[in-house]
Amino acid sequence: MPHSWWRTGTVYQIYPRSFQDSDGDGVGDLEGVRRRLDYLVWLGVDAIWLSPFYPSPMHDFGYDVSDYCDVDPLFGSLARFDALVDEAHAKGLKIIIDFVPNHTSNAHPWFLASKSARSDPKRDWYLWRDPAPNGGPPNNWFGHFGGGAWNWDEQTQQYYLHSFLPEQPDLNWRNPQVSAAMHDVLRFWLRRGVDGFRVDVISHIVKDAAFRDNPANPSWTGEGPDIIRLAQTYSSDQPEVHDVIAEMRRVVDEFDDRLLIGEIYLPIERLIAYYGKELQGVHLPFNFQLLDARWNAAEIGRLIEKYEAALPQGAWPNWVLSNHDRPRIAARVGVAQARVAAMLLLTLRGTPTLYYGDEIGIGHVDIPADRVQDPWTKREPDLGVGRDPSRTPMQWDAGQFAGFSTREPWLPLTPDRETRNVATMRDDKSSILALTRKLLHYRRERAPLNKGEWRLLCSSDDILAYERVSGEERVFVALNFCSEPRSCALPTTAGATITISTHGDRCGEAVGTVLCLRRDEGVLLSSP
Ligand code: NOJ
Ligand code: MG
Repeated sequence: MPHSWWRTGTVYQIYPRSFQDSDGDGVGDLEGVRRRLDYLVWLGVDAIWLSPFYPSPMHDFGYDVSDYCDVDPLFGSLARFDALVDEAHAKGLKIIIDFVPNHTSNAHPWFLASKSARSDPKRDWYLWRDPAPNGGPPNNWFGHFGGGAWNWDEQTQQYYLHSFLPEQPDLNWRNPQVSAAMHDVLRFWLRRGVDGFRVDVISHIVKDAAFRDNPANPSWTGEGPDIIRLAQTYSSDQPEVHDVIAEMRRVVDEFDDRLLIGEIYLPIERLIAYYGKELQGVHLPFNFQLLDARWNAAEIGRLIEKYEAALPQGAWPNWVLSNHDRPRIAARVGVAQARVAAMLLLTLRGTPTLYYGDEIGIGHVDIPADRVQDPWTKREPDLGVGRDPSRTPMQWDAGQFAGFSTREPWLPLTPDRETRNVATMRDDKSSILALTRKLLHYRRERAPLNKGEWRLLCSSDDILAYERVSGEERVFVALNFCSEPRSCALPTTAGATITISTHGDRCGEAVGTVLCLRRDEGVLLSSP
């Protein structure tokens, strides 16, 4: 299926707590998502990825799952989920859900059983170890949210491993009963009609069999979160993980045309291994390089070329600009460059994932100390790792709570919400929303954009220029990464008219051999 939906389409990430509240509790829910499907159709995305909505004590806002086969009442019910899937499908939208295989909640019945006694049949479903010979935790590993990765259980006198919060014990994927149970979870949702999964921290699910100490991280500067003190040599990205993923893939392939996306923060060389032998791993290992890239034309040109060159034969690329764990793009590069970023994301080769709210340019939101929600922020304050600013509610209109809810939302709205909202921006041709929509629709219509080759033309003097080519058809893109005007020479193949400018004007403008770009401007030209 060379051009199945997940190749040509765009994925839109929804953090369900923050998209639309339907029951007035200040927290978004599945019924809220259902009510906003027409907006997503209007916008022009093809698939929705929903972050977790499963029953959970919410220590990590749903990434601590206590039942993989149900919906938390906060978000709705299985009936609400089914209604959402049915209606999304009727409107031509695919549904991707989050699968969290590395750990459960400590309130999951599996963990309660495992923890009840060393002799419990589920004891080995988690990673229990004796103290080190001289006492203390079995090894030196850190958790991702600060502190050690082992938690002592008084009752059974052993430690259990938690790569994230102590409330998120890691499952033992070397135990075949665990993989069988988790495969059935996948089948449960596949039968309910989901079109794919985004798999949480997929590179972490297998650990070194001997639980060796991780070595020091040579580039650690003495600052930053605990997790970066050590190289994760033995706690993640183990060779055996690829077999576990290939098995997951076989389960997904029992059903037609479904998608597996893996959340993997690794350098390109190791990332591409997750496509698997003969592409039997995940379809899309998330490509997060733009999240950390210095925002300049040369650097971004280099990284695209490197990624394109590294892709295995037949592997399909993908791109991400922000997500619920990382700063929003407008917070990182500013609202002016956020438009350039939108044009970049939606004109590169490969499946783009657009994070909700980026289409209206939501930027940094200050979170007052008494409103902090993120458990990582609470455990490692003052490190600037806080994830709340990236999770603030979607802004729909200029009303009191931005049309998100009828009461104060769980996280603050932006100070400029009276203008930065869908209702105000949707009819303004110069808005980032109008730009994003135009790019999405144009991408869908034009083969060079949704499946064509990518060729670098220039990545210097603050300009990144490339073309996308499919057969005889071409689209040319030039992006100005700086806040001063720049110009660049046009190749003869570029075509003579501007189709889209990030500033919202210039459509139809004829261009000669030199293309002038205003500050923070990107333009797209098409061959006639
Ligand atoms: C990655 C998720 O994106 C993040 O939000 C979560 O806290 C961790 N995995 C743990 O599940
Ligand atoms: Mg609600």
